[in-house]
Amino acid sequence: MRPAVLVTKRIYPEAIAYLQEHVEVEYCDTDDGIPAAELLTRARGKQAVVSQLTDKFSPEVIEQLDPGLRVIANVAVGFDNIDVPAASQKGILVTNTPEVLTDTTADFAFALLMAAARRVVEGHHYVHSGQWTKWRIDLLVGQDVHHRTLGIFGMGRIGQAVARRARGFSMRLLYHDAMRAPAEVEESLGLEFATAERVLREADFVSLHVPLTPATRHLIGAAQLRQMKPTAILINTSRGPVVDEAALAEALQNGVIAGAGIDVFEREPQVHPLLLKLENVVLAPHIASASVDTRRRMSMMAAENAVAAMEGRRPPNLLNVEAWSELSQRGA
Ligand code: GLV
Repeated sequence: MRPAVLVTKRIYPEAIAYLQEHVEVEYCDTDDGIPAAELLTRARGKQAVVSQLTDKFSPEVIEQLDPGLRVIANVAVGFDNIDVPAASQKGILVTNTPEVLTDTTADFAFALLMAAARRVVEGHHYVHSGQWTKWRIDLLVGQDVHHRTLGIFGMGRIGQAVARRARGFSMRLLYHDAMRAPAEVEESLGLEFATAERVLREADFVSLHVPLTPATRHLIGAAQLRQMKPTAILINTSRGPVVDEAALAEALQNGVIAGAGIDVFEREPQVHPLLLKLENVVLAPHIASASVDTRRRMSMMAAENAVAAMEGRRPPNLLNVEAWSELSQRGA
């Protein structure tokens, strides 16, 4: 009998076709997602689940998964929706989709930065609503981007891709990370490592590129926002809970910082009601990796990871090597 995979939500058709060539596929062909109880029922008898960031694999859910399940293949680079240690404990491989979305996400972080700095969305509404009647010396004046200081939290693949873009704008680059980048990376990108406090104090733009972990939850709260310049702009394309959204809304309303560009939220798809009323924030619906090519590649990568695991091969984007060693030792 061919192994079987559950696909919890709609993905690009070529990935479904690839899965169908190799394994049996149970496909939830909608964008709704399935509640945990249904996921558990549908995952019964399957060897793989192709999941998305809206599927929550808590330790309790993982505990109840079928012992035959080999892999959870997430269609995302972030995997905070999956408790990886719990999966490893149960001998379940976990994979993600790194690299294909690095440049696409960095492009979007920069798009938000530019839009917020130069008030692009306000300008659009101004023209669209017929308010534009004359040229004015100080109409919708914003912040310069070129030659300003960009502070990056998280100097992984996406942080570095944002830094590369910033160099084209002659920006000065400060960064903070729990782990300092290799000297050659710092040198080639012109990066200066600094404390979090210094990054916040000196940056004109702060862009977040850290994974969501207990250590990064509310990395930016009221106290950190107060350390930023009143002219500064915060960009978040990482994960919503990295920022205390209520504190951000208040800081934007009270002029503690000048603006923000936000793609990710604490309780998606809900957005803090105050953010919805403010003009000085550009909001997007978690679309930083959403180019046609990238979302197609992410779908294919997850499918390839799932098939590799089901065929007993090490998946290319394995996150928990410990689970693989355990499986290999068992000769599974
Ligand atoms: C999207 O947010 C991702 O993690 O890929």
